[in-house]
Amino acid sequence: MTTFWSWYITLLTLFTLVALLWLVFATRKGEAKGTVDKTMGHAFDGIEEYDNPLPKWWFMLFVGTIVFAIGYMVLYPGLGNWTGLFPGYEGGWTQEKQWQREVDKANAQYGPIFAKYSAMPLEAVAQDPQALKMGGRLFATYCSICHGSDAKGAVGFPNLADSSWRWGGDAETIKATILHGRMAAMPAWGEVLGDEGVKNVAAYVRQDLAGLKLPEEAKVDVEAGKALFATTCTACHGQEGHGTAAMGAPDLTQPAAWIYGSSLAQLQQTIRYGRNGQMPAQEQYLGQDKVHILAAYVYSLSRKDGEKVASE
Ligand code: HEC
Ligand code: HEC
Repeated sequence: MTTFWSWYITLLTLFTLVALLWLVFATRKGEAKGTVDKTMGHAFDGIEEYDNPLPKWWFMLFVGTIVFAIGYMVLYPGLGNWTGLFPGYEGGWTQEKQWQREVDKANAQYGPIFAKYSAMPLEAVAQDPQALKMGGRLFATYCSICHGSDAKGAVGFPNLADSSWRWGGDAETIKATILHGRMAAMPAWGEVLGDEGVKNVAAYVRQDLAGLKLPEEAKVDVEAGKALFATTCTACHGQEGHGTAAMGAPDLTQPAAWIYGSSLAQLQQTIRYGRNGQMPAQEQYLGQDKVHILAAYVYSLSRKDGEKVASE
């Protein structure tokens, strides 16, 4: 701020304060006894107004706000370029400095804890009750918005508490997923396969791979669908449809873990138009230490009883 504007604001503020003080003292009437019955001397529809002094509590409150304002402006930056005398802040208080202090304090407090866990292998962190508690809180803050507070996912967002993984469920892979994010690319097949083709291959996936019933009225050729699957889908989903973790192509024999639905209509939608699920990368945002604890937490979810996970 230029010196002119700094002085302009300072003088204007101080002048206003002084003017207000003057106003309230100048118009204050003593509470002398016996003057209570005097009226202001005008009447509206027979209603008259008494000329009473300001209530004492109101007056004190007013003076109090002015005293507060003076104290505030001495301590905090408010008057032009005045930076304030808030104790402990070199060069005056600012929001950023206060925030930085809180961050520093938290780092000093939690830094050693994060450092301790960062040095431990994920599998060991996943056994540590304190780490899991921290992981649970981090998950609730940063992940539950998409994966749900119970980590069981939703349409479009995978369940992280089951033993089925799109990108792999060993501890290091989970950590890589969280650090760097994932971009799944299921191509759109509508143009290539045509309407019939899409219907047939969807029926094949639902009936033969996923083991779900087809609606009786469905006019589909599952055999033709099987042939199409062999030529168009196996490159990513595998000969048997068990998926390929390196591409995030899901296991098509596990409909419970699908994220886009298993009805014929939903399958056709997926196959016709493709899907592009995206897991946002957290490295820049949360940093290695927090991701380490989150990865251990997610890893622990599917192994509540130490069971082995299918995709390992
Ligand atoms: C280039 C590799 C690739 C090919 C080829 C491919 N897919 Fe996919 N598919 C994927 C990926 C990756 C996903 C995961 C998409 C996501 O998570 O958003 C996926 C998802 C799916 C899903 C959804 C599963 C769920 O979780 O709801 C179905 C169903 C599916 N594919 C069927 C097929 C069929 C049928 C074909 C052949 C016509 C096929 N895919 C060909 C890569 C492929
Ligand atoms: C904006 C929504 C969003 C947020 C926030 C998010 N995720 Fe995801 N995550 C996804 C989507 C979508 C996928 C599936 C990507 C795909 O289609 O393959 C995914 C996939 C994953 C996977 C891989 C699952 C598998 O089966 O391989 C893991 C692990 C994961 N997320 C963990 C996390 C953690 C931990 C957090 C919190 C730091 C988080 N995610 C935050 C959307 C999100």
